[in-house]
Amino acid sequence: MPVLPAPPWTQFCDLPIHLFLSCGAPGRGWYSRHSMADDEVLREYRTGSDPRTLRDALGCFATGVTVVTCFDENGGPVGFTANSFTSVSLDPPLLLVNVHKHAACAAGLTNAQHFAVNVLQTGQQPASIRFSTRQEDRFGANDWSRGEFGAPVLQESLGVFECERYAVHDGGDHHILVGHVVKASFNPELDPLLYFRGRYRRLHFD
Ligand SMILES: Cc1cc2nc3c(=O)[nH]c(=O)nc-3n(C[C@H](O)[C@H](O)[C@H](O)COP(=O)(O)O)c2cc1C
Repeated sequence: MPVLPAPPWTQFCDLPIHLFLSCGAPGRGWYSRHSMADDEVLREYRTGSDPRTLRDALGCFATGVTVVTCFDENGGPVGFTANSFTSVSLDPPLLLVNVHKHAACAAGLTNAQHFAVNVLQTGQQPASIRFSTRQEDRFGANDWSRGEFGAPVLQESLGVFECERYAVHDGGDHHILVGHVVKASFNPELDPLLYFRGRYRRLHFD
């Protein structure tokens, strides 16, 4: 996900807000009542416009939330909150995450042989906030262990992808970090923490 100077993830919502995902027929859901053709609702970004509008447009894409972790060159655990996580390929099994070049853990993550993508569940909103806020010890308050392939793994995560570094591409002000998945584990009984329009959300099942 391309990211601009003041990212949309600077707002937080401590209260769970249910995100209703409609699976109904086209024309019968939310979009028919709030049509994009409605001039009063439609907002638009073009080259040269206020970048906040582009941020808001990007924020329309609802995502899960992950914490990406590795050990840095001093052997200490480092990590940061990321929602730019995307699956890339099944054969070979590849995924990617975009890391801002100025992030404190950017060098650690792009140099590490292994890293882990911890997919967060609803109870891990505090971890998401901790791993996206500048502070000395992000790992202290979180239960974590060394994963089988040498990257820190957050306990109680919904899912964990342990990866070997596959490639690092240039992505403007971000590094595109591609990982080769060597192990994936998940807990089918947990629900995902979501992020939409700059706020944390939860999935609502009817
Ligand atoms: C929900 C959420 C998603 C985020 N996704 C990303 C991302 O994909 N890439 C990124 O570089 N930063 C992302 N951030 C911001 C980083 O977590 C944050 O800027 C970073 O941890 C700053 O601290 P650091 O420089 O000390 O690492 C996200 C933040 C939040 C709250």
